[in-house]
Amino acid sequence: MQAWNIEFRHLSVGYGRHEILHDINAVIPSGAITVILGGSGCGKSTLLRHIIGLSRPLGGQILLGDRDIFSLPSKDFRQVRRHMGVLFQDGALLGALTLVQNVVLPLSEHLRLPNALLREAGLRVLRMVGLENFADYYPNQLSGGMRKRVGLARAIVAEPRILLCDEPTSGLDPVTAARMDALLLSMRQRYTDMTIVVVSHDLASLHAIAEHVLVLGEGRALFAGSPQALESSQNPYLRQFLQRQAGFGEASLETPANPEITSALKRWLDS
Ligand SMILES: Nc1ncnc2c1ncn2[C@@H]1O[C@H](COP(=O)(O)OP(=O)(O)O)[C@@H](O)[C@H]1O
Ligand SMILES: [Mg+2]
Repeated sequence: MQAWNIEFRHLSVGYGRHEILHDINAVIPSGAITVILGGSGCGKSTLLRHIIGLSRPLGGQILLGDRDIFSLPSKDFRQVRRHMGVLFQDGALLGALTLVQNVVLPLSEHLRLPNALLREAGLRVLRMVGLENFADYYPNQLSGGMRKRVGLARAIVAEPRILLCDEPTSGLDPVTAARMDALLLSMRQRYTDMTIVVVSHDLASLHAIAEHVLVLGEGRALFAGSPQALESSQNPYLRQFLQRQAGFGEASLETPANPEITSALKRWLDS
């Protein structure tokens, strides 16, 4: 399998004229797990949408394996897109299809293969995520963690060079989240050249799986490097994020309540 780095060059992304991320310059290396870390709303999913070509950047470039994806003819882009597997935030499974039908979608949409072969391919990846015995269940019969594992199975069924996971542990309890991390590490072992990108705000997950980290915040890339270098960074925003200090800027508990409201409330509570 050919390895593909992902490179951002002076990349700016946003919606309409509203810029969300400005002048991102970073390389996401192949053959490693990179965690893109940042608080809610900082633009992580937006960045992912651009990597898979769902949105066009406001400026700059994204290179996948040395090719600028937004200057490719659409036919060549579709060719590149085939090598990307995506685990969406909620798993994005189709409710009317069984798990095995869901996981083989990337194959059944494009390849003419006999059903028995498709099923075999589906069972194989369901086995990799520990859900082979649930192959004929429907998504609504599963827990959130199981649905995410099915989403992961579908993301890898076409053996992608780039695997993108949007918040694979969000909404999961700590034990289930740790299992998801273990599963991502096993994918890393199984597919040694794969470029694995995990978007997350989960610090436990960061410590468990990251070999490389890109931190987004304040509309920029604040850090790119190893988890060890991140730990020793003195950047105040990063320190605050890593130590989970609350910091809502303008938020204040100090504004006194209007005494009229306080006394009306007291009368009602005491009545
Ligand atoms: N389709 C959209 N149109 C306009 N603004 C959007 C859209 N999707 C997201 N945003 C805005 O972009 C910012 C980043 O969102 P998002 O990438 O989803 O953040 P994250 O995934 O880091 O939580 C947010 O301020 C959000 O409100
Ligand atoms: Mg998101």
